[in-house]
Amino acid sequence: MLHIPGVLDAAALAQVHGLLGRAGWIDGRATAGHLSATVKDNRQLDEDDPIALQAGAVVMDALARHPLFAASALATCISAPLFNRYEGGATYGDHIDGAIRPLTKGRMRADLSATLFLSDPASYDGGELLIAGPGGEHAVKLPAGDMILYASGARHRVTPVTQGRRDAAVLWIQSLVRSAQQRDMLFELDGTIQNLRAANAPDADVLALTGLYHNLLRLWSEP
Ligand code: NI
Repeated sequence: MLHIPGVLDAAALAQVHGLLGRAGWIDGRATAGHLSATVKDNRQLDEDDPIALQAGAVVMDALARHPLFAASALATCISAPLFNRYEGGATYGDHIDGAIRPLTKGRMRADLSATLFLSDPASYDGGELLIAGPGGEHAVKLPAGDMILYASGARHRVTPVTQGRRDAAVLWIQSLVRSAQQRDMLFELDGTIQNLRAANAPDADVLALTGLYHNLLRLWSEP
C-alpha cells in the first residue's frame, strides 16, 4: 500500500471539479459484478461520457508525469479512471476488485487498484477507504489530489458518507511485474539508487546497482 501525494495540483483539481460539476451521474452498480452490486451504493460517471473522458485525460496526464507512480506501479496498462460520488449515506461494502477488466480494445489484469481523492477531507464525514491487510484494516482518507495505491486482491470498502460529498476517481493498473513482492523489491532498489546518486556515491557502484535493477526487471517483467 503506497500513498502518492500531489498527483493532481491545484490547477488540475480545479479543472476536474469544473468538469464533474456539469456531469450526469449514474448508479454505481452499472459496472459492479453480481456480488459487489449487492454492497455498492454510490454514483459514478458513465465510462463513455465525454466529461468523464476529459477529466480522465487530466488524471492520466498527471500520472504520466509522476515519478513515484512510475517507480512503484511499473504500469504496462492503466484503465480509464472511473469517477465516483458518495453523499447522503452512500457507501460501498466489503469487496475485492475483479481480476480482469474489459478495455475498449481487449482486456487487462488488475494487479493494483488506485483511489485518487478529489474532495477536501474536511468537507465530508465518513467516506474512509478501509483496506484489509496483514495487520488489520487500514483507514485511508487523503487530501484532495492524493492517491492511494494498493493490491487489487485486498478486501476493501468505503464507509458511509454521512455529511458532505466525497468525489474520487478509481483506476486499475496492470503491472509489468505481477508479483507484489518482486515489485516492492524493485521499488526499494530504485529508491536506494536515487538516494545514492543524490549522495554522490561512486559512479561504478551506482552503475552496478542500476544494472542489477534492470536485470531483475528483465527477469521478472511480462510486458
Ligand atoms: Ni473496489
